[in-house]
Amino acid sequence: MTDDVSPTQSFSLDGDDLPFASGETILQAATRAGRYIPHLCWHPDFAAHGSCRICSVKVNGRVGAACTVQAAAGLEVESNTPEMNRQRKTLLQMLFVEGNHFCPSCEKSGNCLLQATAYQMGMEGPHFEEFYPNRPVDASHPDILLDFNRCILCELCVRASREADGKNIFAIGGHGMGTHLLVNSASGQLGDTAMSLDDRAAHICPVGVILPKRRGFVIPIGQRRFDLKPVSQQREGDAT
Ligand code: SF4
Ligand code: FES
Repeated sequence: MTDDVSPTQSFSLDGDDLPFASGETILQAATRAGRYIPHLCWHPDFAAHGSCRICSVKVNGRVGAACTVQAAAGLEVESNTPEMNRQRKTLLQMLFVEGNHFCPSCEKSGNCLLQATAYQMGMEGPHFEEFYPNRPVDASHPDILLDFNRCILCELCVRASREADGKNIFAIGGHGMGTHLLVNSASGQLGDTAMSLDDRAAHICPVGVILPKRRGFVIPIGQRRFDLKPVSQQREGDAT
């Protein structure tokens, strides 16, 4: 993102004129202007991935991902509409049933982007039948635990480990319903990698997969990140 924002270059977001800088995506320009577009797999420090589709908006009447579509002068973008929010709610419900997102027993509750986005979209129930996956946890690392049953395949840990840590600890493997997070070691265990609690990848997960050991439930209820302000009123990257 650049600060070189020309007021002569603007597009319309839900009827309001929004200036943008050359090369910015719709989501980058909206975020800089303090306008919330729901998203899960985008983080300002990493290249866009475009997989969760929660940021879908209508651009001149056609649906596109706000995190990958470049801003351009004169575009008419619709985001906060009943239709787009209904679609986002359905995508969130699908994510909730595909994994084991049992928030009352998850220590990421209150600090979880998936949960906070579901609250924001007014998601009241899972709607679809639960899958109840049974992927074993990986507790092989002395300081970090992995609970694969909560993974939303956003690839933020993959990007952080590759681009920020230079370690390539994680990958996404399989396809279709079998797509899953992998650990890049001969044994497939995190304990056999060079992962460290200081790594960016150890703190980037927006949900409750990558967790530090011996530090659960440290923030009292009422003081957790999304207890304080809804996700729509937070600056991107505040927690990660
Ligand atoms: S472990 Fe977390 S950061 Fe990595 S892909 Fe899964 S949800 Fe995303
Ligand atoms: S944030 Fe755009 S597709 Fe996930």
